[in-house]
Amino acid sequence: MRTAICDMVAVARVMNATLVIPDLDHTSYWDDPSNFEDIFDVNQFIKQLQHDIRIVKTLPNDFNSSDIFQLAPKSWSQVSYYQEEILPLLLKHKVLRFSLTDSRLANQISDEFQRLRCRANYKALRFEPSLRSLGNRIVKRLQKGGSYIALHLRYEKDMLAFSGCTAGLSYAEASELRRIRYNTSRWKEKEINAETRRASGGCPLTPLEIGLLLRALGYPQNTTVYIAAGEIYGGRQRMQSFTALYPNVVTKETLTSPEELKPFRRFQNRLAALDYMVAVESDVFIPTFDGNMARAVQGHRRFLGHRKTLIPDRTRLVRIFDEFERRAIGWDSVKLQVQKTHRNRQGEPHFRKSGSSNAKLEESFYANPLPGCICENTTTIC
Ligand SMILES: *[C@@H]1O[C@H](CO)[C@@H](O)[C@H](O)[C@H]1NC(C)=O
Ligand SMILES: *[C@@H]1O[C@H](CO)[C@@H](O)[C@H](O)[C@H]1NC(C)=O
Ligand SMILES: *[C@@H]1O[C@H](CO)[C@@H](O)[C@H](O)[C@H]1NC(C)=O
Ligand SMILES: *[C@@H]1O[C@H](CO)[C@@H](O)[C@H](O)[C@H]1NC(C)=O
Repeated sequence: MRTAICDMVAVARVMNATLVIPDLDHTSYWDDPSNFEDIFDVNQFIKQLQHDIRIVKTLPNDFNSSDIFQLAPKSWSQVSYYQEEILPLLLKHKVLRFSLTDSRLANQISDEFQRLRCRANYKALRFEPSLRSLGNRIVKRLQKGGSYIALHLRYEKDMLAFSGCTAGLSYAEASELRRIRYNTSRWKEKEINAETRRASGGCPLTPLEIGLLLRALGYPQNTTVYIAAGEIYGGRQRMQSFTALYPNVVTKETLTSPEELKPFRRFQNRLAALDYMVAVESDVFIPTFDGNMARAVQGHRRFLGHRKTLIPDRTRLVRIFDEFERRAIGWDSVKLQVQKTHRNRQGEPHFRKSGSSNAKLEESFYANPLPGCICENTTTIC
């Protein structure tokens, strides 16, 4: 949502259009009825962008809302696409509703619009006050115990069903997830070879794999690990392979009272907002898969000073761990290989790689906003 909103801010600016506060998706797997103002501070959003674009809270009454031209812009488009193909449509119809907004703008666009995307993301999109207040309280409680790792453990039912990954699951669980996948029409890929996918790095790491990773990297057993995720598939029992190695596991549920969490509990997007805040403020952030949230948190941490984000090399890791399990290599060799593989995967500054023929595979602007909105050297004022 964050990155889609930022793209639309830039697109509104490109076309000199007025932005209507976006409707959030209410039909996704999580089925969350929250609106923009339930997640974000609307007035802050409008105020921070007042010199960039005009924003209105709702579509004025003089437009017939049942009669609006709707379209899905092409994904990963250049600014020129909006100037040349979409603007004429806007001038003709007066109002356009975009039915899709995620990844609608390329990673590489001119600095003027990059900076605007960053201003939208890191200044304008502030969480709504009650979310911010609870998020800050959770962070303070964690920091009282010293440093902590935020682990974005994408081992939730929808993720596993969608990706077709079955490592660590029982036969019955794998069948259940397969049924869900076949039953969810917007997930286009149905037949998935779990082993091939895992071997090529296409699967989120399992609780056991992430435990082995931390151990190999030398994190002490008493490290505090905050699980930034929804409900882990298989629950406490599945987590045992991780907690056996790292017992000091906490979540938003364990760090708050039922009364504190009550206003947010039934709303997955608000819970995700809490995880986002805790993850951004963590000492180390580790995503087990590279989805939108992992990218957004990683980018935000870079923006705040290249805070440590450990990006697991999943392809190499599963190979190393499988060799270990087959007893082809010993633990010392695991440690050596894991440490070497991750030496340069810790969020240190580097210029975003660009120029891939496939924009989707290009390094994400939102995961690494350098260049674009992080100073390239200390003598530049920006
Ligand atoms: C942008 O739109 C506003 C309001 O419609 C208009 O007054 C202004 O001239 C436009 N700017 C440009 C550069 O077209
Ligand atoms: C709005 O559009 C719908 C469908 O085109 C039409 O039936 C309705 O009369 C319109 N309402 C107004 C107030 O113009
Ligand atoms: C499949 O989806 C339908 C509605 O979309 C639902 O009623 C049904 O329970 C689902 N079946 C399974 C096995 O998930
Ligand atoms: C964790 O254990 C180490 C010794 O193994 C100790 O030095 C450190 O203070 C402990 N940290 C916490 C947060 O308890």
